[in-house]
Formats: sequence, C-alpha cells, structure tokens
Amino acid sequence: MHPGKKAAALTALKHVEENSLLGVGTGSTINVFIELLAASGIKLAGCVASSKATATLLEKYHFEVMDLNVTGQLELYIDGTDEVNPALHLIKGGGGALTREKILAGASNKFICIADDSKEVDVLGEFPLPVEIIPMARSFVSREIVKLGADPEYREGPPTDNGNVIVDCSGFTITDPIELEATINAIPGVVTNGLFARRAADLLVIGHDDGEVYSRTAK
Ligand code: 5RP
Repeated sequence: MHPGKKAAALTALKHVEENSLLGVGTGSTINVFIELLAASGIKLAGCVASSKATATLLEKYHFEVMDLNVTGQLELYIDGTDEVNPALHLIKGGGGALTREKILAGASNKFICIADDSKEVDVLGEFPLPVEIIPMARSFVSREIVKLGADPEYREGPPTDNGNVIVDCSGFTITDPIELEATINAIPGVVTNGLFARRAADLLVIGHDDGEVYSRTAK
C-alpha cells in the first residue's frame, strides 16, 4: 500500500461518522481508503459510488451502495485528485469518472480531497485536463478546445460509465480555473470537464511517503 496514500486515507477516515451517508470517489487512493474503511468496522447508513469500479469494491466489502436519487444530499464526499492548487481547485478525471465525481461533490455538504504530496501544484494544467463529451460531438468539441489554446487527445479505450468519450487536453496554463471550467462546459456536447473549481474541495489531506500528514483549507 502506497504510504502517502495510506496516511491521507487514514486521516480522512477520522471524518467519517457512524451511520452516515458517504459519497465515495474513484482511483487508487480511494481504493486504499475503501480498504481501510472496511477494516475500521465503521458502519454506514449507505454510500453512493462515483463509478462502477468503486461500487464493485464497496460491495465486495458489504457496504450498501445506494442511488443518489434515493439518498438525497450526502453528508460527506471523499475523493482523490490528479492536481490541486492552493485554493483547493482540482483537476480530476484521470480515472475517467469526472462527471459522477462532480455530481457527488456538488451533492455533498463537505468534500474532503485526499492525495499524496505529488499532486500539489501552484498552477493547474500540467496534468492534461479531461473533458467528457457526447460521442457525436467529439471532433467539434476538440476543434473548439484548440481555439482555446490547448491540444486535445482522444482517450482510447472503453466508453465512460455514462457511455461517453474523453479527450485529455494538454497545454492549458490554468490561472483562472473557475472561468475555464465554465467556458469549456458551455461548448455544446461537453458533459463536463475535470476542473473542480466552482465546487472546490473543502479540506485537503496530503500524505507523505514517511507517513506524515497535513490537512488544510483553501489559501
Ligand atoms: C478519477 C479521479 C481520481 O481521483 C484521480 O485520477 C486520482 O487518482 P489516483 O488516486 O489513482 O491518483 O479523478 O476520475
């Protein structure tokens, strides 16, 4: 188990209350968190998964995976990230689950982001920004993204859990994440993009390889 991810996940676990409704993200850091959650013995009222992969892992550990339409607002959402800046704006979607992740972040009272220290940056954009697109709009949206100054690359492989495609956009220097998130989302055919700026994380928990952890809110 990656020591930095484990350290961050263990700290996040302290925020999970018995019998609460928990939103659960996607990725290798979250997989560590789920394993630690199962080992902790904490009983949940239920959880909502941000991907089919996460739902499968939660069910393996006998957590009840519920529909967001049934649970209503969630108390807490915990997820990883690909990049995080000082304002706790994120780039997410490396694992392809950005749309459901953004829905759960928006539908939760509190969003805790857990990561190892490699994810912290001053300015977002070195990690290619994922954009989920309705399949028929892929080349149109890609041309619009080129006009915004980036280089979109079609992500080969199976469709997203929502049946869509992803393009990964490199070359953005994202000094105004809130504006860029809105600009890309306004292109017809875009489902959403991986900038989590309008709804940023509320708390960041960073784990280091030596097991040290620190938590912080937005600067
Ligand atoms: C998936 C995500 C993940 O949170 C992100 O890719 C980080 O993954 P990992 O914990 O494996 O580094 O956004 O869509």
